[in-house]
Amino acid sequence: MDELTLLSKLHGSNHRQGPGSDAATRLALTLSGIDKSRRLKVADIGCGTGAQTLTLAQELTGEIVAVDLLPAFLDRLQETVSHRHLSADITPLCASMDNLPFAAEEFDLLWSEGAIYHIGFRRGIALWKPFLKPGGILAVSEISWTTLQRPRPIQDFWTQAYPEIDTASGKIKALEEAGYRVLAHFMLPQDCWMENYYTPLQASLPHFLHTYGDDPTAQAIAESTQQEITCYTENKDYYSYGFYIAQKQG
Ligand SMILES: C[S@@+](CC[C@H](N)C(=O)[O-])C[C@H]1O[C@@H](n2cnc3c(N)ncnc32)[C@H](O)[C@@H]1O
Repeated sequence: MDELTLLSKLHGSNHRQGPGSDAATRLALTLSGIDKSRRLKVADIGCGTGAQTLTLAQELTGEIVAVDLLPAFLDRLQETVSHRHLSADITPLCASMDNLPFAAEEFDLLWSEGAIYHIGFRRGIALWKPFLKPGGILAVSEISWTTLQRPRPIQDFWTQAYPEIDTASGKIKALEEAGYRVLAHFMLPQDCWMENYYTPLQASLPHFLHTYGDDPTAQAIAESTQQEITCYTENKDYYSYGFYIAQKQG
């Protein structure tokens, strides 16, 4: 089985595929200042199984295009949607976030939690900007340092894993340079990582290994997942996801 399929098996039955919370999604929405009484056109890019898509669909009216590369995640989202009463419509779209079939100035709001790193922050915010209406809002969460200095091993680990990791001030500068006005930012608290993401993910590992453990790729995924959790537990004072809420200029 290929790595992507195995990853979707490991993560697909959990509520979230990355750190976050309903409260953080709602806070970002409030800080965006978006007029919730209007019908809005929204894209949730890298939506996974749609934890934050569902929160947005409870809070907003209009249409939310839920984009992900993995059909299995979108299928799960569609199944959940069929059991919920939501005020916005959700349209699943299987597409890559660096090749989105959107029109210029189509969206009031672009949302992306824990996903833009797949194509890089600077590249993502530049590629997506044309899809926003003038004055449209981008709300994006991205791995960020929470201190200016940190121990060498964690510095080296993240710099190798994701060279674009930076402090909030670095991320804000990148947004400003790309032509956005930053309205607000905040760091995800630790419960977004442990209770909402790593604890259920860790609990999924025994079943995952029981089912796919003969596959060396599955073993490597389980090992790197456990390492990632340990890394966070030991270094949680130095990094988190920053949530950045910005407005398209011009
Ligand atoms: C860390 S998960 C976050 C999912 C969800 N936003 C959440 O917070 O629970 C990143 C998501 O991005 C998706 N993804 C990865 N590469 C992608 C790409 N090139 N285009 C669209 N989605 C992608 C993955 O399938 C996954 O669902």
